[in-house]
Amino acid sequence: MADLRSNFLGIKSPNPFWLASAPPTDKEYNVRRAFEAGWGGVVWKTLGEEGPPVVNVSGPRYGAIHGADRRLLGLNNIELITDRPLEVNLREIKAVKRDWPDRALVVSLMVPCEQEPWEKILKAVEETGADGVELNFGCPHGMAERGMGSAVGQVPEYIEMVTRWVRNATRMPVIVKLTPNITNILYPAEAAMRGGADAVSLINTINSITSVDIDSFCPEPSIDGKGAHGGYCGPAVKPIALNMVAEIARNAETANLPISGIGGVTTWRDAVEFMTLGAGNVQVCTAAMTYGFKIVQEMISGLSQYMDEKGFTSIDEIVGRAVPNVKDWNELNLNFVTKAVIDQDTCIQCGRCYAACEDTSHQAIAMSEDRIFTVKDEECVACNLCVNVCPVEDCITMKELPLGALDERTGRKVEPYLNWPNHPNNTPANCGWDPEPAE
Ligand SMILES: Cc1cc2nc3c(=O)[nH]c(=O)nc-3n(C[C@H](O)[C@H](O)[C@H](O)COP(=O)(O)O)c2cc1C
Ligand code: SF4
Ligand code: SF4
Repeated sequence: MADLRSNFLGIKSPNPFWLASAPPTDKEYNVRRAFEAGWGGVVWKTLGEEGPPVVNVSGPRYGAIHGADRRLLGLNNIELITDRPLEVNLREIKAVKRDWPDRALVVSLMVPCEQEPWEKILKAVEETGADGVELNFGCPHGMAERGMGSAVGQVPEYIEMVTRWVRNATRMPVIVKLTPNITNILYPAEAAMRGGADAVSLINTINSITSVDIDSFCPEPSIDGKGAHGGYCGPAVKPIALNMVAEIARNAETANLPISGIGGVTTWRDAVEFMTLGAGNVQVCTAAMTYGFKIVQEMISGLSQYMDEKGFTSIDEIVGRAVPNVKDWNELNLNFVTKAVIDQDTCIQCGRCYAACEDTSHQAIAMSEDRIFTVKDEECVACNLCVNVCPVEDCITMKELPLGALDERTGRKVEPYLNWPNHPNNTPANCGWDPEPAE
């Protein structure tokens, strides 16, 4: 059986599934039950400075986007960092770590952008025996207005400065959690690295308003008739997170910087995708909040079965496997040709593919009088819109034309790899790239 053990920055856990810093890791009661359910590690809900804790709203703190089947696709929240006293959290962290030495316990931190409060809280966390710290430079609401969270994460110079303070003040591994509310994820990732971070974790939540009540004209969630932007997470953010993880993994400067992947992980497959794009482990929040702690058991069994089927014996064999296949558009093969093929045995004759292709694509699907739908190869540009709108999985597939085969649309035979920089149409007149040697 595959070995799921994970070693992230020297922090060992029985599997690569950690709970992200959020309500699931807010207190001892939760974390003990999470470990009993099988989670490999947790990042404790973000701790703030000593003194009176922050105050959360006492009205609704979530907004949501649902699929047609009411499945939760995206979650938006206006919750702050922990609203429990620092000393209570520290006492509980110490007790949990003592009783669960084989699980990863990382503590998330957010204090004002000054050296002294950072040094003070690091000392207190070290005394708990925690395995590491995660610097929360990501929360986009409430704390950002107070100069913390994403207010730091949006300024690379601040990230570098605070990371350096922390690096110099502790022996614990330092993970810097990044905000996606920026233009280019490489700037904050490189800043964290310059400051001495051992790893980055991403993504924190995305600035968002999920909906507006069109009777009261108030953004939701509504607090006494007013709303504020919140942080968006859940399955809907996974594509954004995957891209940011991949950007860091394939960037020369950050290629060796360990990454903890976060954002919409709901199944073992999501986790594998993050790991193939360079994440050494994954963190989960919304899926646990939606389905409970036991969801990790499906993640563990699914990952284990996948690894066995593939013949992978350790997690390291997955990490980064897809990174060499992530390219810029100008490196794609413009001579690669596919055609849509409809499986008449599974087609339910709904006509969605026809409407989509006829009205918004390339008029490449024919409909007979008795509603038989067929692809016209001479028109099909292979956009795969029909595949994506078809309600029957695998009813429409894209078939690759082999080298030398005739593309009926262009009247040309399929030729070897050719990218845009080397394409004959790439002339100064249409704003081309400089030619590059073909692969
Ligand atoms: C209600 C709620 C509270 C959160 N609080 C924190 C927090 O205190 N610190 C932090 O770093 N991230 C916090 N997050 C962000 C999560 O840790 C995670 O980065 C984000 O939800 C994306 O992961 P997901 O799609 O699995 O939920 C919070 C998320 C939610 C939904
Ligand atoms: S792949 Fe695109 S062009 Fe071809 S049939 Fe489907 S929708 Fe039409
Ligand atoms: S969308 Fe799919 S099921 Fe519907 S007609 Fe087209 S191929 Fe058949």
